[in-house]
Amino acid sequence: MATTAILSALEQEQLGLLARLEQPRTVRRAGRDFHCGRLHGKLVVLALSRIGKVAAASTATTLIEAFACDRIVFTGVAGALDDAVQVGDLVVGSHFVQHDMDASPLFPRFEVPLYRQALFACDPMLTHLLVQASHAALASVQSAAGIAAPTRPPTVHTGLIASGDRFIATIASARAVQEALRSHALEPLAIEMEGAAVAQVCHDYGLPFAAVRTISDRADDAAGVDFQQFLATVAGNYALHIVEHFVRALPAAPDWTGRPRGPC
Ligand code: ADE
Repeated sequence: MATTAILSALEQEQLGLLARLEQPRTVRRAGRDFHCGRLHGKLVVLALSRIGKVAAASTATTLIEAFACDRIVFTGVAGALDDAVQVGDLVVGSHFVQHDMDASPLFPRFEVPLYRQALFACDPMLTHLLVQASHAALASVQSAAGIAAPTRPPTVHTGLIASGDRFIATIASARAVQEALRSHALEPLAIEMEGAAVAQVCHDYGLPFAAVRTISDRADDAAGVDFQQFLATVAGNYALHIVEHFVRALPAAPDWTGRPRGPC
Protein backbone atom coordinates (compact mmCIF):
# COMPACT_ATOMS: atom_id res chain seq x y z
CA MET A 1 0.00 0.00 0.00
CA ALA A 2 1.21 3.53 -0.75
CA THR A 3 2.71 5.50 2.13
CA THR A 4 1.64 9.12 2.51
CA ALA A 5 3.96 11.53 4.32
CA ILE A 6 2.14 14.22 6.28
CA LEU A 7 4.50 17.09 6.88
CA SER A 8 3.90 19.99 9.26
CA ALA A 9 6.28 22.80 10.17
CA LEU A 10 5.64 22.96 13.91
CA GLU A 11 4.68 20.68 16.77
CA GLN A 12 1.40 22.47 17.49
CA GLU A 13 0.24 21.63 13.96
CA GLN A 14 1.02 17.92 14.40
CA LEU A 15 -0.14 17.10 17.96
CA GLY A 16 -3.74 16.15 17.12
CA LEU A 17 -2.63 13.89 14.28
CA LEU A 18 -0.06 12.19 16.46
CA ALA A 19 -2.72 11.37 19.04
CA ARG A 20 -4.83 9.66 16.34
CA LEU A 21 -2.00 7.60 14.83
CA GLU A 22 -2.79 3.86 14.92
CA GLN A 23 0.02 1.31 15.47
CA PRO A 24 2.51 4.16 16.01
CA ARG A 25 6.23 3.63 15.74
CA THR A 26 8.79 6.41 16.01
CA VAL A 27 12.03 6.28 14.03
CA ARG A 28 14.76 8.91 14.42
CA ARG A 29 16.63 10.03 11.29
CA ALA A 30 18.46 13.21 10.31
CA GLY A 31 17.96 14.61 13.82
CA ARG A 32 14.19 14.30 13.56
CA ASP A 33 11.41 12.00 14.75
CA PHE A 34 9.39 10.26 12.03
CA HIS A 35 6.13 8.75 13.31
CA CYS A 36 5.00 5.80 11.22
CA GLY A 37 1.56 4.22 11.51
CA ARG A 38 -1.92 4.26 10.07
CA LEU A 39 -4.67 6.85 9.88
CA HIS A 40 -8.07 5.46 8.91
CA GLY A 41 -6.26 2.34 7.73
CA LYS A 42 -3.90 4.21 5.35
CA LEU A 43 -0.12 4.01 5.82
CA VAL A 44 1.32 7.38 6.88
CA VAL A 45 4.53 8.92 8.17
CA LEU A 46 4.12 12.09 10.22
CA ALA A 47 7.09 14.45 10.33
CA LEU A 48 8.00 17.99 11.33
CA SER A 49 9.91 19.99 8.76
CA ARG A 50 10.81 22.73 11.24
CA ILE A 51 11.02 26.21 9.77
CA GLY A 52 12.59 27.37 6.52
CA LYS A 53 13.39 25.97 3.10
CA VAL A 54 16.56 24.04 3.93
CA ALA A 55 14.99 22.28 6.92
CA ALA A 56 11.93 21.44 4.82
CA ALA A 57 14.02 20.13 1.90
CA SER A 58 16.10 17.98 4.25
CA THR A 59 12.98 16.48 5.84
CA ALA A 60 11.35 15.82 2.45
CA THR A 61 14.50 14.14 1.16
CA THR A 62 14.68 11.90 4.25
CA LEU A 63 11.00 10.98 3.84
CA ILE A 64 11.67 9.90 0.28
CA GLU A 65 15.10 8.29 0.63
CA ALA A 66 14.80 6.64 4.05
CA PHE A 67 11.04 6.07 4.36
CA ALA A 68 10.21 5.43 0.69
CA CYS A 69 7.07 7.52 0.96
CA ASP A 70 5.01 7.74 -2.23
CA ARG A 71 3.56 11.22 -1.84
CA ILE A 72 4.01 14.22 0.45
CA VAL A 73 1.24 16.43 1.80
CA PHE A 74 2.04 19.57 3.77
CA THR A 75 -0.36 21.10 6.29
CA GLY A 76 0.51 24.26 8.14
CA VAL A 77 -0.16 27.95 8.55
CA ALA A 78 0.62 30.93 6.31
CA GLY A 79 0.29 34.69 6.14
CA ALA A 80 -2.26 36.22 3.73
CA LEU A 81 -0.91 38.27 0.84
CA ASP A 82 -4.01 38.73 -1.30
CA ASP A 83 -6.69 41.09 0.04
CA ALA A 84 -9.39 38.48 -0.62
CA VAL A 85 -7.73 36.07 1.83
CA GLN A 86 -8.61 36.45 5.52
CA VAL A 87 -7.35 35.00 8.79
CA GLY A 88 -9.05 31.60 9.25
CA ASP A 89 -9.34 30.92 5.50
CA LEU A 90 -7.66 27.89 3.95
CA VAL A 91 -5.36 28.17 0.95
CA VAL A 92 -4.67 25.02 -1.06
CA GLY A 93 -1.55 25.43 -3.21
CA SER A 94 -1.84 25.04 -6.97
CA HIS A 95 1.80 26.13 -7.49
CA PHE A 96 4.72 27.32 -5.37
CA VAL A 97 7.35 30.00 -5.97
CA GLN A 98 10.42 30.98 -3.93
CA HIS A 99 9.96 34.71 -3.41
CA ASP A 100 13.59 35.10 -2.26
CA MET A 101 15.14 33.31 -5.26
CA ASP A 102 17.14 35.85 -7.26
CA ALA A 103 20.10 34.74 -9.38
CA SER A 104 19.71 37.69 -11.76
CA PRO A 105 21.30 38.67 -14.06
CA LEU A 106 22.43 35.08 -14.62
CA PHE A 107 18.83 33.82 -14.59
CA PRO A 108 15.49 35.63 -14.57
CA ARG A 109 14.40 36.70 -11.10
CA PHE A 110 12.43 33.95 -9.26
CA GLU A 111 13.58 31.27 -11.71
CA VAL A 112 15.27 28.34 -9.93
CA PRO A 113 18.67 28.12 -11.65
CA LEU A 114 19.04 25.24 -14.10
CA TYR A 115 15.39 24.19 -13.76
CA ARG A 116 14.16 26.77 -16.30
CA GLN A 117 11.12 27.40 -14.12
CA ALA A 118 10.02 29.58 -11.24
CA LEU A 119 6.83 27.70 -10.48
CA PHE A 120 6.50 24.17 -9.15
CA ALA A 121 3.05 22.65 -9.64
CA CYS A 122 1.18 20.59 -7.08
CA ASP A 123 -0.31 17.23 -8.00
CA PRO A 124 -3.85 17.76 -9.40
CA MET A 125 -5.44 14.65 -7.85
CA LEU A 126 -4.04 15.26 -4.35
CA THR A 127 -4.86 18.95 -4.63
CA HIS A 128 -8.45 18.14 -5.57
CA LEU A 129 -8.74 15.86 -2.53
CA LEU A 130 -7.24 18.58 -0.30
CA VAL A 131 -9.77 21.14 -1.55
CA GLN A 132 -12.61 18.76 -0.75
CA ALA A 133 -11.09 17.92 2.65
CA SER A 134 -10.65 21.64 3.39
CA HIS A 135 -14.34 22.35 2.71
CA ALA A 136 -15.35 19.41 4.89
CA ALA A 137 -12.99 20.53 7.67
CA LEU A 138 -14.33 24.10 7.62
CA ALA A 139 -17.85 22.76 7.98
CA SER A 140 -16.85 20.77 11.06
CA VAL A 141 -14.50 23.18 12.87
CA GLN A 142 -15.93 26.58 11.94
CA SER A 143 -18.14 27.03 14.95
CA ALA A 144 -15.81 25.31 17.41
CA ALA A 145 -12.74 27.28 16.36
CA GLY A 146 -14.16 30.63 17.44
CA ILE A 147 -12.20 32.54 14.83
CA ALA A 148 -15.04 34.25 13.02
CA ALA A 149 -13.41 36.27 10.25
CA PRO A 150 -14.21 39.98 10.31
CA THR A 151 -16.51 40.19 7.29
CA ARG A 152 -17.51 36.66 6.31
CA PRO A 153 -17.16 33.00 7.36
CA PRO A 154 -13.85 31.26 6.52
CA THR A 155 -13.51 29.98 2.98
CA VAL A 156 -11.22 27.82 0.81
CA HIS A 157 -8.99 29.33 -1.90
CA THR A 158 -6.77 27.58 -4.42
CA GLY A 159 -3.78 29.31 -5.99
CA LEU A 160 -0.14 30.31 -5.89
CA ILE A 161 1.73 30.23 -2.55
CA ALA A 162 5.07 32.00 -2.08
CA SER A 163 7.79 30.58 0.17
CA GLY A 164 10.98 32.17 1.48
CA ASP A 165 13.33 32.28 4.43
CA ARG A 166 11.71 35.32 6.04
CA PHE A 167 8.82 35.70 8.44
CA ILE A 168 6.95 38.64 6.90
CA ALA A 169 5.81 40.90 9.72
CA THR A 170 5.38 44.40 8.29
CA ILE A 171 2.93 45.76 5.75
CA ALA A 172 5.86 47.27 3.87
CA SER A 173 7.70 43.96 3.46
CA ALA A 174 4.49 42.14 2.49
CA ARG A 175 3.78 44.76 -0.19
CA ALA A 176 7.38 44.62 -1.43
CA VAL A 177 7.20 40.83 -1.92
CA GLN A 178 3.79 41.14 -3.54
CA GLU A 179 4.87 43.91 -5.93
CA ALA A 180 8.06 42.11 -6.96
CA LEU A 181 6.12 38.94 -7.79
CA ARG A 182 3.35 40.91 -9.48
CA SER A 183 5.92 42.55 -11.77
CA HIS A 184 6.58 39.00 -13.04
CA ALA A 185 2.84 38.29 -13.43
CA LEU A 186 2.77 36.19 -10.25
CA GLU A 187 -0.11 36.77 -7.80
CA PRO A 188 0.40 34.75 -4.61
CA LEU A 189 -2.49 34.25 -2.24
CA ALA A 190 -0.35 33.41 0.79
CA ILE A 191 3.19 33.38 2.09
CA GLU A 192 5.08 30.84 4.21
CA MET A 193 8.56 29.41 4.62
CA GLU A 194 8.68 25.78 3.43
CA GLY A 195 6.28 24.72 0.67
CA ALA A 196 8.32 25.64 -2.42
CA ALA A 197 11.31 23.69 -1.09
CA VAL A 198 9.25 20.52 -0.62
CA ALA A 199 7.66 21.04 -4.05
CA GLN A 200 11.12 21.24 -5.63
CA VAL A 201 12.37 18.09 -3.88
CA CYS A 202 9.22 16.20 -4.97
CA HIS A 203 9.78 17.48 -8.51
CA ASP A 204 13.34 16.11 -8.41
CA TYR A 205 12.09 12.66 -7.39
CA GLY A 206 8.93 12.69 -9.53
CA LEU A 207 6.72 12.35 -6.44
CA PRO A 208 3.25 13.90 -6.09
CA PHE A 209 3.04 16.83 -3.66
CA ALA A 210 0.14 18.90 -2.33
CA ALA A 211 -0.19 21.49 0.42
CA VAL A 212 -2.82 23.32 2.42
CA ARG A 213 -2.23 26.33 4.66
CA THR A 214 -4.55 27.86 7.22
CA ILE A 215 -4.19 31.63 7.30
CA SER A 216 -2.85 32.66 10.71
CA ASP A 217 -2.06 36.33 10.02
CA ARG A 218 -2.01 39.04 7.38
CA ALA A 219 1.81 39.24 7.11
CA ASP A 220 1.46 42.75 8.52
CA ASP A 221 2.70 44.56 11.62
CA ALA A 222 0.52 42.36 13.87
CA ALA A 223 1.67 39.11 12.23
CA GLY A 224 3.99 38.03 15.04
CA VAL A 225 1.25 38.15 17.69
CA ASP A 226 -1.51 36.80 15.42
CA PHE A 227 0.72 33.91 14.33
CA GLN A 228 1.55 32.80 17.90
CA GLN A 229 -2.05 33.06 19.03
CA PHE A 230 -3.38 31.14 16.02
CA LEU A 231 -0.76 28.45 16.44
CA ALA A 232 -1.61 27.96 20.10
CA THR A 233 -5.38 27.85 19.68
CA VAL A 234 -6.52 26.90 16.19
CA ALA A 235 -3.85 25.52 13.84
CA GLY A 236 -3.69 21.94 15.15
CA ASN A 237 -7.45 21.54 15.12
CA TYR A 238 -7.63 22.60 11.47
CA ALA A 239 -4.75 20.33 10.45
CA LEU A 240 -6.36 17.37 12.20
CA HIS A 241 -9.74 17.81 10.53
CA ILE A 242 -8.28 18.45 7.07
CA VAL A 243 -5.93 15.46 7.20
CA GLU A 244 -8.62 13.13 8.56
CA HIS A 245 -11.00 14.02 5.72
CA PHE A 246 -8.15 13.83 3.19
CA VAL A 247 -6.80 10.46 4.30
CA ARG A 248 -10.28 8.91 4.39
CA ALA A 249 -10.81 9.95 0.76
CA LEU A 250 -7.39 8.76 -0.46
CA PRO A 251 -7.65 5.78 -2.80
CA ALA A 252 -5.85 2.77 -1.29
CA ALA A 253 -3.37 2.74 -4.16
CA PRO A 254 -0.47 0.33 -4.45
CA ASP A 255 2.84 2.10 -3.88
CA TRP A 256 3.88 4.02 -6.96
CA THR A 257 7.59 3.57 -6.87
CA GLY A 258 8.12 -0.11 -6.15
CA ARG A 259 11.10 0.92 -3.98
CA PRO A 260 11.98 -1.16 -0.91
CA ARG A 261 10.02 -0.11 2.16
CA GLY A 262 11.78 2.07 4.74
CA PRO A 263 12.34 1.47 8.45
CA CYS A 264 8.58 1.57 9.18
N1 ADE B 1 3.77 31.67 8.15
C1 ADE B 1 2.68 32.15 8.79
N2 ADE B 1 2.66 33.49 8.74
C2 ADE B 1 3.76 33.86 8.03
C3 ADE B 1 4.30 35.10 7.66
N3 ADE B 1 3.70 36.24 8.00
N4 ADE B 1 5.47 35.11 6.95
C4 ADE B 1 6.08 33.96 6.63
N5 ADE B 1 5.62 32.76 6.97
C5 ADE B 1 4.47 32.70 7.67
